Amino acid sequence: MRARPSETFAAISDVHGNSDALRAVLDDIDRIGITAIVNLGDHLSGPLAAREVADLLMTRDMACIRGNHDRWLVEMEPSAMGPSDRAAHRQLDPAHLEWLRGLPATGRYGRDVFLCHGTPDSDTAYWMEEASNGATLTLKPSDGIEAIADGIDAALILCGHTHIPRALRLRDGRLIVSPGSVGCPAYSDDAPFAHVMQTATPDACYAVLEKRHGRWAVSFRYVPYDSGRMVGLARESGREDWASALATGWIRP
Ligand SMILES: [Fe+2]
Repeated sequence: MRARPSETFAAISDVHGNSDALRAVLDDIDRIGITAIVNLGDHLSGPLAAREVADLLMTRDMACIRGNHDRWLVEMEPSAMGPSDRAAHRQLDPAHLEWLRGLPATGRYGRDVFLCHGTPDSDTAYWMEEASNGATLTLKPSDGIEAIADGIDAALILCGHTHIPRALRLRDGRLIVSPGSVGCPAYSDDAPFAHVMQTATPDACYAVLEKRHGRWAVSFRYVPYDSGRMVGLARESGREDWASALATGWIRP
């Protein structure tokens, strides 16, 4: 974590090995003059450029936590990994894996910002959305969302994992923000039910957080970039689902 947290910072998440999207987002952050970044995990998994992303993240000053895929990359044997994790693992050196191993599951940024990937207790659970069989993710009833925030002493709570940019103000004034995904704008998953998530834009997405008059405010930034090289890498790995997501923001065009 940075020694002196800023009251204006960027939150990025779910880069998923997409180095061209990450470069575009970092350029945008630099261009608007923001110098502090937090990163909510799932950095490398995917049939893209995991090694390039690891090298970029390891040399850039930002507060990183780990996501479920980061954990699986260091906990599982490659033969037991899913194809996206295995494709990333193939590109990584021991130093990259050591960096992943050192990332915390959750974090604090300054006094009143809490960071997690999924929820405070799980890197695989969705905080604000729920899956139903064969459908796209939908917003959960508010009681379920509020219950997860019990005991989190932070005015601003940041989570990733769903890849859906969303801001939700709890009844007591705390703000939960999911900054969306830098590198993977759509996916399908089979747990706990088969479901899909589609942002309907190929643009990279992140959030800017600012404390104004004692309250946190969020704005989302969508950054267009040329996804052609990443689409090509996905196709070389036989991943038409990834190629479609990166080219269009849809899994089912
Ligand atoms: Fe993810």
